[in-house]
Amino acid sequence: MTRKLWGGRFKKATDPLVERYTSSITVDACLARYDVQGSIAHATMLGRCRIISRADSRKLVRGLTRILRSIQQGRFAPNPRAEDIHTQIQQTLERRIGPVAKKLHTARSRNDQVALDLRLYCRDAAAYLTDDLRGAQRALVHLASRYARAVMPGYTHLQHAQPVLLAHHLLAYVEMFERDIERLRDAHIRIDVLPLGSGALAGTSLPIDRAFVAKLLKFPRVSRNSMDAVSDRDFALELCSALAIVGMHLSRLAEDFILWNSVEFGILELDDAFATGSSLMPQKKNPDVLELIRGQAGLVIGHLTALLTMMKGLPLSYNRDLQWDKRCVCESIEMTHDALIVLARLVQRSTIRTSQLTALLHDDALCATDLAEYLVERGVPFAQAHTIVGQVVVAAERQGIPLKQLGLAQLKRFSTAFDRRALAVLDPRASVARKRSVGSTNPTMVAQALVNWQKKLKRG
Ligand code: ARG
Repeated sequence: MTRKLWGGRFKKATDPLVERYTSSITVDACLARYDVQGSIAHATMLGRCRIISRADSRKLVRGLTRILRSIQQGRFAPNPRAEDIHTQIQQTLERRIGPVAKKLHTARSRNDQVALDLRLYCRDAAAYLTDDLRGAQRALVHLASRYARAVMPGYTHLQHAQPVLLAHHLLAYVEMFERDIERLRDAHIRIDVLPLGSGALAGTSLPIDRAFVAKLLKFPRVSRNSMDAVSDRDFALELCSALAIVGMHLSRLAEDFILWNSVEFGILELDDAFATGSSLMPQKKNPDVLELIRGQAGLVIGHLTALLTMMKGLPLSYNRDLQWDKRCVCESIEMTHDALIVLARLVQRSTIRTSQLTALLHDDALCATDLAEYLVERGVPFAQAHTIVGQVVVAAERQGIPLKQLGLAQLKRFSTAFDRRALAVLDPRASVARKRSVGSTNPTMVAQALVNWQKKLKRG
C-alpha cells in the first residue's frame, strides 16, 4: 500500500486485509480530474489569502496542472495500491514537486474534498447526459419524420386499441426524454453548491475565502452548514433518481422495439450492425443491444435504492459508508451515457416495414371507437353507442369478417342511426384524420409537433 494521508498516531501498520477492504480507488478513479480541478482552486485561494506563500501556491498549481493534463490525456492510471484517488493525486504531486506539496491539504479534509469532487463530477454529467438525451430525441424525431404518414395499431393492454401514427408513438418518447432533461436541469440547481471549506465537519480556523473558490469553480452558491455539506448526498440521490427514470424510459422504448422487431409484430427491422447472432441457431438476428438497455434499468434503479438505503441510517456528519456513493453515482452515469449513445445510433439505423403496418391494420375493429363516436355525432348517447358497437364487433367476430364487410344493411339492424357514411369511418387513415383534440394523433397536429421538435433540436 502507498503512504497514507493520516499515519501519525498509529503505532502499527494497517493490516493488508483492511487496506484492501477500505481502498476506494476502484470506485473513485472517475473523480480524478475533478479532484485536481478542485485542488487547483484550493491552492490558488490558499496563496491569495496568504495562508501559504504566493510562490508555494504557484508551485502547487503548476504541479497540479501537469497532473490534470496527464489525466486528460489518459496517461494517469489509477494505482490499485492507493487508498483512494485523493491520496494517489497527493502522492503524485509530492513526487513531482517535492515537500511543498504537503501544503496543499491545508484547511481541507477529504470529507469536503470528496463532496466537492462528486459535485463537480455530477455537474459535468448532468450537462453531457443532457446532450445524450438530445441525441436520442434527434434520432427518434428523424425516424418519425422518415415515416411521418405511417399509421399503425395503437395498443393498450398490448391489445389492438385505436389507429395511431407511428410518429405519434415515437414522439411520446421524445416527450419523456424532454422531462428527463428538465429533471437534470433541476438536479443541477442543487448540485451546484460549493461544499469545500467545510473542513472535516466544523469548518476551519484558517482565514480561507470560500466565495473566491466558488467563483473559480463557477459555483453560484456556497454551502451554509459545514456539517450538512460534508454529509449531504441529496444532490447525488436526485441525479440517481433522474437517471433511474431515464433508465425506465429507455427500457420501455427498448421493450417496444423488441416487440416490434419480433416475427409476430414484424414492423421494425434492426440494422445488421446493431443486432447479434446466436452461436447455435444460424438464422437468428437478436436484439441484444435493446435487451441490455432494458436490463440495465434494473441496475440504475438498484443504485438509487442502494444509495437511499445507505443514507437512511447515518448519523451526522461524514461516515465512511459514504464511500460507496461513488459506485452508485458513477456507474449510473456511465451506464446511462453508454445506453443513450448506442440507442440513438440504433434508432437512427432502424427501418420500419410499412407493408407490415398495413397488414396489421386490416383489423378494422381498431376503428370501433370511431364508429361509436360517429353514432354520438348522430345523437346517440355514448354509453348506448358503446353497447351497439360492442354488439356489431361480436357479430363480425362470429362471422369471421372485418366490420366493414357487415355492410350497411346489417349495421342498421343494430341501430337506425347508421347511415351510408358509417362504413367510411372504418378506415385507419380516416380514424387518425378525424381526431381533433389537442395532443391527439391527428396527422396535421403530429406534423406540427415534428416541425416543432425539429426546430428545437436543430444543432445550435
Ligand atoms: N474515500 C473516501 C470517500 O470516498 C474519502 C473520504 C475519506 N474520509 C475519511 N474521513 N475517511 O468517502
